[in-house]
Amino acid sequence: MDCIVRVENLVKSYGEIKAVNDISFKVKRGSLFAFLGPNGAGKSTTINVMTTLLDKDSGQVFLNEQTDDAYFRNKIGVVFQGNVLDEDLTVKENLIYRGALYLKDKVAVKARYDELAKYLNLYEFENQRYKTLSGGQKRRTEIARALFSNPEILLLDEPTTGLDPETRQIVWKVIEDLKKNHGMTIFLTTHYMEEAANADHVVIINKGKIVAEGTPAQLKDEYSYDRLKIVAKDKKALIDALEKMNKPYEKIADQFIMIVSDAEEAITMINQLRENIAQFEMVKGTMDDVFIQVIGGENHV
Ligand SMILES: Nc1ncnc2c1ncn2[C@@H]1O[C@H](COP(=O)(O)OP(=O)(O)OP(=O)(O)O)[C@@H](O)[C@H]1O
Ligand SMILES: [Mg+2]
Repeated sequence: MDCIVRVENLVKSYGEIKAVNDISFKVKRGSLFAFLGPNGAGKSTTINVMTTLLDKDSGQVFLNEQTDDAYFRNKIGVVFQGNVLDEDLTVKENLIYRGALYLKDKVAVKARYDELAKYLNLYEFENQRYKTLSGGQKRRTEIARALFSNPEILLLDEPTTGLDPETRQIVWKVIEDLKKNHGMTIFLTTHYMEEAANADHVVIINKGKIVAEGTPAQLKDEYSYDRLKIVAKDKKALIDALEKMNKPYEKIADQFIMIVSDAEEAITMINQLRENIAQFEMVKGTMDDVFIQVIGGENHV
Protein backbone atom coordinates (compact mmCIF):
# COMPACT_ATOMS: atom_id res chain seq x y z
CA MET A 1 0.00 0.00 0.00
CA ASP A 2 1.24 3.49 -0.84
CA CYS A 3 0.81 5.05 2.57
CA ILE A 4 1.32 8.73 3.27
CA VAL A 5 1.14 8.35 7.05
CA ARG A 6 2.20 5.49 9.26
CA VAL A 7 1.62 5.60 13.01
CA GLU A 8 3.41 2.98 15.08
CA ASN A 9 2.81 2.17 18.73
CA LEU A 10 1.89 5.72 19.61
CA VAL A 11 1.53 6.49 23.33
CA LYS A 12 0.57 9.81 24.88
CA SER A 13 -0.39 10.40 28.51
CA TYR A 14 -1.46 13.44 30.44
CA GLY A 15 -0.20 12.63 33.93
CA GLU A 16 -2.08 9.51 34.98
CA ILE A 17 -4.41 9.53 31.96
CA LYS A 18 -3.27 7.38 29.04
CA ALA A 19 -5.10 9.30 26.32
CA VAL A 20 -3.51 7.30 23.49
CA ASN A 21 -2.39 3.84 24.50
CA ASP A 22 -0.23 2.10 21.91
CA ILE A 23 -2.06 2.61 18.62
CA SER A 24 -0.82 1.80 15.11
CA PHE A 25 -2.46 2.48 11.76
CA LYS A 26 -1.69 3.44 8.17
CA VAL A 27 -3.29 6.08 5.96
CA LYS A 28 -3.34 5.35 2.24
CA ARG A 29 -2.32 8.21 -0.05
CA GLY A 30 -5.31 9.92 -1.66
CA SER A 31 -7.83 8.20 0.60
CA LEU A 32 -10.47 9.43 3.01
CA PHE A 33 -9.65 8.05 6.45
CA ALA A 34 -12.18 8.35 9.28
CA PHE A 35 -11.16 8.19 12.91
CA LEU A 36 -14.19 7.43 15.04
CA GLY A 37 -14.66 7.27 18.75
CA PRO A 38 -16.76 8.54 21.65
CA ASN A 39 -15.89 11.64 23.67
CA GLY A 40 -12.51 11.31 25.35
CA ALA A 41 -11.41 8.36 23.17
CA GLY A 42 -8.12 10.04 22.22
CA LYS A 43 -8.93 11.36 18.72
CA SER A 44 -7.80 14.96 19.18
CA THR A 45 -4.72 13.84 21.10
CA THR A 46 -3.75 11.64 18.14
CA ILE A 47 -4.27 14.50 15.67
CA ASN A 48 -2.32 16.92 17.84
CA VAL A 49 0.61 14.51 18.02
CA MET A 50 0.44 13.91 14.25
CA THR A 51 0.68 17.66 13.62
CA THR A 52 3.63 17.95 16.05
CA LEU A 53 1.63 20.30 18.29
CA LEU A 54 1.98 17.79 21.14
CA ASP A 55 5.02 15.71 22.03
CA LYS A 56 4.43 11.97 22.18
CA ASP A 57 5.64 9.73 25.02
CA SER A 58 6.72 6.96 22.66
CA GLY A 59 6.06 5.47 19.24
CA GLN A 60 6.56 6.97 15.81
CA VAL A 61 4.63 8.99 13.25
CA PHE A 62 5.95 8.78 9.70
CA LEU A 63 4.89 11.15 6.94
CA ASN A 64 6.22 9.98 3.58
CA GLU A 65 8.57 7.86 5.69
CA GLN A 66 10.05 11.00 7.28
CA THR A 67 9.94 11.87 10.98
CA ASP A 68 11.35 15.39 11.01
CA ASP A 69 8.96 17.95 12.63
CA ALA A 70 9.84 20.76 10.22
CA TYR A 71 9.03 18.53 7.25
CA PHE A 72 5.59 17.79 8.74
CA ARG A 73 4.59 21.41 9.17
CA ASN A 74 4.64 22.21 5.47
CA LYS A 75 2.97 19.03 4.30
CA ILE A 76 0.11 18.81 6.82
CA GLY A 77 -2.90 21.10 6.97
CA VAL A 78 -5.01 20.91 10.09
CA VAL A 79 -8.48 22.10 11.02
CA PHE A 80 -8.57 21.90 14.81
CA GLN A 81 -11.64 20.92 16.83
CA GLY A 82 -11.91 24.45 18.20
CA ASN A 83 -11.56 27.50 15.98
CA VAL A 84 -8.10 29.07 16.21
CA LEU A 85 -8.27 32.29 14.21
CA ASP A 86 -8.10 35.76 15.74
CA GLU A 87 -11.56 36.92 16.80
CA ASP A 88 -10.87 40.61 16.24
CA LEU A 89 -9.37 40.39 12.77
CA THR A 90 -11.43 40.11 9.61
CA VAL A 91 -11.50 36.92 7.58
CA LYS A 92 -9.18 38.42 5.00
CA GLU A 93 -6.75 39.86 7.57
CA ASN A 94 -6.64 36.53 9.40
CA LEU A 95 -5.85 34.54 6.27
CA ILE A 96 -3.35 37.00 4.78
CA TYR A 97 -1.55 37.19 8.12
CA ARG A 98 -1.43 33.38 8.49
CA GLY A 99 -0.55 32.94 4.84
CA ALA A 100 2.54 35.10 5.26
CA LEU A 101 3.90 32.36 7.54
CA TYR A 102 3.93 29.96 4.57
CA LEU A 103 4.64 32.19 1.60
CA LYS A 104 7.25 34.92 1.82
CA ASP A 105 6.17 36.83 -1.27
CA LYS A 106 3.23 39.22 -0.66
CA VAL A 107 1.89 38.86 -4.19
CA ALA A 108 1.87 35.08 -3.82
CA VAL A 109 0.03 35.36 -0.48
CA LYS A 110 -2.66 37.55 -2.05
CA ALA A 111 -2.97 35.22 -5.05
CA ARG A 112 -3.37 32.18 -2.81
CA TYR A 113 -5.88 34.07 -0.68
CA ASP A 114 -7.96 34.89 -3.77
CA GLU A 115 -7.84 31.27 -4.89
CA LEU A 116 -9.07 30.04 -1.52
CA ALA A 117 -11.67 32.80 -1.06
CA LYS A 118 -13.14 31.80 -4.41
CA TYR A 119 -12.93 28.08 -3.71
CA LEU A 120 -14.61 28.36 -0.29
CA ASN A 121 -16.86 31.25 -1.14
CA LEU A 122 -15.47 33.62 1.49
CA TYR A 123 -15.88 36.87 -0.43
CA GLU A 124 -19.33 37.69 0.90
CA PHE A 125 -18.01 37.95 4.46
CA GLU A 126 -14.27 38.54 3.94
CA ASN A 127 -14.35 41.95 5.64
CA GLN A 128 -16.31 40.80 8.67
CA ARG A 129 -14.51 40.30 11.95
CA TYR A 130 -14.05 36.62 12.67
CA LYS A 131 -16.06 36.79 15.90
CA THR A 132 -19.16 37.97 14.02
CA LEU A 133 -19.27 34.94 11.68
CA SER A 134 -21.73 32.06 11.84
CA GLY A 135 -20.44 28.60 12.80
CA GLY A 136 -20.38 27.46 9.17
CA GLN A 137 -18.58 30.60 7.96
CA LYS A 138 -15.97 30.11 10.70
CA ARG A 139 -15.41 26.49 9.64
CA ARG A 140 -14.94 27.49 6.00
CA THR A 141 -12.42 30.13 7.05
CA GLU A 142 -10.57 27.59 9.23
CA ILE A 143 -10.46 25.19 6.27
CA ALA A 144 -9.03 27.97 4.08
CA ARG A 145 -6.34 28.56 6.71
CA ALA A 146 -5.48 24.87 6.77
CA LEU A 147 -5.26 24.76 2.97
CA PHE A 148 -3.04 27.82 2.63
CA SER A 149 0.19 25.84 2.31
CA ASN A 150 -1.44 23.48 -0.20
CA PRO A 151 -0.79 20.48 2.07
CA GLU A 152 -0.54 16.86 0.93
CA ILE A 153 -2.76 15.72 3.75
CA LEU A 154 -5.57 17.58 5.49
CA LEU A 155 -6.45 16.60 9.06
CA LEU A 156 -9.88 17.70 10.22
CA ASP A 157 -10.91 17.26 13.85
CA GLU A 158 -14.72 17.05 13.88
CA PRO A 159 -15.14 19.49 10.99
CA THR A 160 -18.92 19.30 10.95
CA THR A 161 -19.89 19.10 14.62
CA GLY A 162 -22.50 21.69 15.50
CA LEU A 163 -23.25 22.68 11.91
CA ASP A 164 -26.73 22.61 10.39
CA PRO A 165 -27.34 19.92 7.75
CA GLU A 166 -26.95 22.30 4.82
CA THR A 167 -23.65 23.70 6.09
CA ARG A 168 -22.43 20.17 6.81
CA GLN A 169 -23.08 19.36 3.18
CA ILE A 170 -21.08 22.38 2.03
CA VAL A 171 -18.13 21.25 4.15
CA TRP A 172 -18.52 17.71 2.78
CA LYS A 173 -18.54 18.91 -0.82
CA VAL A 174 -15.23 20.66 -0.17
CA ILE A 175 -13.76 17.55 1.46
CA GLU A 176 -14.87 15.34 -1.42
CA ASP A 177 -13.61 17.79 -4.03
CA LEU A 178 -10.20 18.02 -2.36
CA LYS A 179 -9.94 14.25 -2.46
CA LYS A 180 -11.31 13.64 -5.95
CA ASN A 181 -10.00 16.59 -7.90
CA HIS A 182 -6.90 17.58 -5.97
CA GLY A 183 -5.69 14.13 -4.91
CA MET A 184 -5.49 15.27 -1.30
CA THR A 185 -5.46 12.73 1.51
CA ILE A 186 -8.17 13.46 4.08
CA PHE A 187 -7.97 12.31 7.69
CA LEU A 188 -10.97 13.25 9.77
CA THR A 189 -12.56 12.55 13.09
CA THR A 190 -16.30 12.57 13.43
CA HIS A 191 -19.17 11.52 15.66
CA TYR A 192 -21.54 11.26 12.72
CA MET A 193 -21.77 7.65 11.67
CA GLU A 194 -23.23 8.41 8.25
CA GLU A 195 -20.12 10.49 7.53
CA ALA A 196 -17.86 7.58 8.41
CA ALA A 197 -19.80 5.51 5.88
CA ASN A 198 -18.23 7.70 3.11
CA ALA A 199 -14.70 6.84 4.18
CA ASP A 200 -12.32 4.46 2.42
CA HIS A 201 -11.05 3.22 5.76
CA VAL A 202 -12.41 3.59 9.28
CA VAL A 203 -10.55 3.18 12.56
CA ILE A 204 -12.58 3.09 15.75
CA ILE A 205 -10.81 4.11 18.93
CA ASN A 206 -12.05 3.83 22.50
CA LYS A 207 -10.19 4.74 25.68
CA GLY A 208 -6.95 5.22 23.78
CA LYS A 209 -7.06 1.80 22.05
CA ILE A 210 -8.09 0.78 18.54
CA VAL A 211 -11.10 -1.49 18.90
CA ALA A 212 -12.03 -2.10 15.25
CA GLU A 213 -10.99 -1.08 11.76
CA GLY A 214 -11.78 -1.76 8.13
CA THR A 215 -13.78 -0.42 5.23
CA PRO A 216 -17.36 0.61 6.11
CA ALA A 217 -18.57 -2.50 4.26
CA GLN A 218 -16.24 -4.79 6.23
CA LEU A 219 -17.27 -3.22 9.54
CA LYS A 220 -20.95 -3.47 8.67
CA ASP A 221 -20.51 -7.10 7.67
CA GLU A 222 -18.92 -7.91 10.96
CA TYR A 223 -20.80 -5.71 13.42
CA SER A 224 -24.17 -4.70 12.02
CA TYR A 225 -27.45 -6.49 11.49
CA ASP A 226 -30.12 -6.44 8.82
CA ARG A 227 -33.62 -6.09 10.18
CA LEU A 228 -37.06 -7.07 9.00
CA LYS A 229 -39.86 -4.77 10.10
CA ILE A 230 -43.45 -5.94 9.94
CA VAL A 231 -46.74 -4.23 10.65
CA ALA A 232 -49.29 -6.98 11.35
CA LYS A 233 -52.96 -7.14 10.51
CA ASP A 234 -53.49 -9.10 13.72
CA LYS A 235 -50.83 -8.36 16.35
CA LYS A 236 -51.73 -11.21 18.66
CA ALA A 237 -51.52 -13.74 15.80
CA LEU A 238 -48.10 -12.36 14.80
CA ILE A 239 -46.77 -12.65 18.35
CA ASP A 240 -48.00 -16.26 18.48
CA ALA A 241 -46.40 -17.05 15.12
CA LEU A 242 -43.06 -15.45 16.07
CA GLU A 243 -43.03 -17.35 19.35
CA LYS A 244 -43.74 -20.58 17.55
CA MET A 245 -40.87 -19.82 15.16
CA ASN A 246 -38.72 -19.07 18.22
CA LYS A 247 -37.84 -15.71 16.66
CA PRO A 248 -36.96 -12.88 19.07
CA TYR A 249 -38.50 -9.51 18.24
CA GLU A 250 -38.66 -5.95 19.45
CA LYS A 251 -41.87 -3.97 19.21
CA ILE A 252 -41.68 -0.25 18.48
CA ALA A 253 -45.04 1.53 17.99
CA ASP A 254 -46.94 -0.74 15.58
CA GLN A 255 -43.80 -2.32 14.12
CA PHE A 256 -42.36 -5.72 14.97
CA ILE A 257 -38.60 -5.70 14.37
CA MET A 258 -36.62 -8.89 13.90
CA ILE A 259 -32.90 -9.33 13.22
CA VAL A 260 -32.34 -11.46 10.12
CA SER A 261 -29.08 -12.94 8.88
CA ASP A 262 -29.74 -12.15 5.21
CA ALA A 263 -32.40 -11.46 2.57
CA GLU A 264 -33.03 -15.20 2.23
CA GLU A 265 -34.16 -15.49 5.87
CA ALA A 266 -36.35 -12.38 5.47
CA ILE A 267 -38.08 -13.86 2.40
CA THR A 268 -38.71 -17.14 4.21
CA MET A 269 -40.26 -15.29 7.14
CA ILE A 270 -42.38 -13.07 4.89
CA ASN A 271 -43.65 -16.19 3.12
CA GLN A 272 -44.55 -17.87 6.38
CA LEU A 273 -46.31 -14.80 7.76
CA ARG A 274 -47.72 -13.34 4.54
CA GLU A 275 -51.43 -13.72 5.42
CA ASN A 276 -50.91 -11.50 8.43
CA ILE A 277 -48.64 -8.79 6.95
CA ALA A 278 -50.10 -5.31 6.45
CA GLN A 279 -46.67 -3.77 5.62
CA PHE A 280 -43.06 -4.86 5.70
CA GLU A 281 -39.63 -3.37 5.20
CA MET A 282 -36.12 -4.82 5.14
CA VAL A 283 -33.53 -2.46 6.61
CA LYS A 284 -29.81 -2.94 6.02
CA GLY A 285 -27.34 -2.68 8.89
CA THR A 286 -25.79 0.76 9.47
CA MET A 287 -22.61 2.30 10.83
CA ASP A 288 -24.67 3.17 13.92
CA ASP A 289 -24.97 -0.56 14.63
CA VAL A 290 -21.20 -0.87 14.22
CA PHE A 291 -20.50 1.91 16.68
CA ILE A 292 -22.92 0.59 19.29
CA GLN A 293 -21.67 -2.96 18.90
CA VAL A 294 -17.98 -2.04 19.06
CA ILE A 295 -18.14 0.59 21.79
CA GLY A 296 -20.89 -1.23 23.64
CA GLY A 297 -22.44 0.13 26.79
CA GLU A 298 -19.11 0.55 28.50
CA ASN A 299 -18.94 4.29 27.96
CA HIS A 300 -22.17 5.10 29.69
CA VAL A 301 -21.30 6.29 33.17
N1 LIG B 1 -4.51 18.85 28.09
C1 LIG B 1 -5.01 17.79 28.73
N2 LIG B 1 -4.74 17.55 30.01
C2 LIG B 1 -5.22 16.48 30.67
N3 LIG B 1 -6.01 15.54 30.10
C3 LIG B 1 -6.32 15.72 28.82
C4 LIG B 1 -5.86 16.85 28.06
N4 LIG B 1 -6.34 16.74 26.79
C5 LIG B 1 -7.08 15.61 26.77
N5 LIG B 1 -7.09 14.99 27.97
C6 LIG B 1 -7.74 13.71 28.30
O1 LIG B 1 -7.28 12.74 27.40
C7 LIG B 1 -8.36 11.89 26.98
C8 LIG B 1 -8.51 11.96 25.46
O2 LIG B 1 -8.90 13.26 25.08
P1 LIG B 1 -9.09 13.70 23.56
O3 LIG B 1 -9.35 15.17 23.56
O4 LIG B 1 -7.94 13.21 22.77
O5 LIG B 1 -10.40 12.89 23.16
P2 LIG B 1 -11.33 12.99 21.87
O6 LIG B 1 -11.47 11.61 21.36
O7 LIG B 1 -10.82 14.02 20.95
O8 LIG B 1 -12.74 13.44 22.49
P3 LIG B 1 -13.90 14.42 21.91
O9 LIG B 1 -14.70 13.58 20.99
O10 LIG B 1 -14.66 14.80 23.13
O11 LIG B 1 -13.23 15.57 21.23
C9 LIG B 1 -9.59 12.36 27.75
O12 LIG B 1 -9.70 11.55 28.88
C10 LIG B 1 -9.22 13.79 28.13
O13 LIG B 1 -9.86 14.16 29.33
MG1 LIG C 1 -11.58 15.77 20.25
